[in-house]
Amino acid sequence: MAKLASLCSSSSLIAQLYRLTTRSYHRLLVLQWNSLNGRQKGRWINTNAPLLHGEYEMQDPTSPDEIVNVTFITRDGEKKPIQGKIGDNILYLAHRYGIELEGACEASLACSTCHVVVDDENFDKLNEPDEKEDDLLDMAPLLTHTSRLGCQITLTKELEGMVLTLPKATRNFYVDGHVPQPH
Ligand code: FES
Repeated sequence: MAKLASLCSSSSLIAQLYRLTTRSYHRLLVLQWNSLNGRQKGRWINTNAPLLHGEYEMQDPTSPDEIVNVTFITRDGEKKPIQGKIGDNILYLAHRYGIELEGACEASLACSTCHVVVDDENFDKLNEPDEKEDDLLDMAPLLTHTSRLGCQITLTKELEGMVLTLPKATRNFYVDGHVPQPH
């Protein structure tokens, strides 16, 4: 079992992720310590291997009808227009084009490092976040009323022109040297 990452979600909470990987599935062990009461708790999360970093293959649109144009605004304030396609996952689309959207748990819905701020108009077109995403967003710094987890956003044609701003801070510290590489 490999230690994958360490998260500091606040001064009082530290979480570490461990990953158990087999050919057919991945499990993440999330350990959390609360420094205020000295308690530790852990939970296992089962994930789908095809969604994990390095195994998700992005493909170019096969027709203009599939294209969805989005713009990322980086932490430096730089605008990066990207041509995505229907069905693309925002986290992996960002990685493909070298946008520094972290994604520590590799789309397993176990961190908040893929936090993005969606423009108002397109935020209203997204599906409601489930309870788990809401819980994770609560741990993200610089939360706004249009914050979402990038790994939970799938492009549709209706999202044409969406603008995604990367918050100026995230809360993850890698402890084993693992850094996601763009595809
Ligand atoms: Fe961890 Fe999105 S990458 S929740």
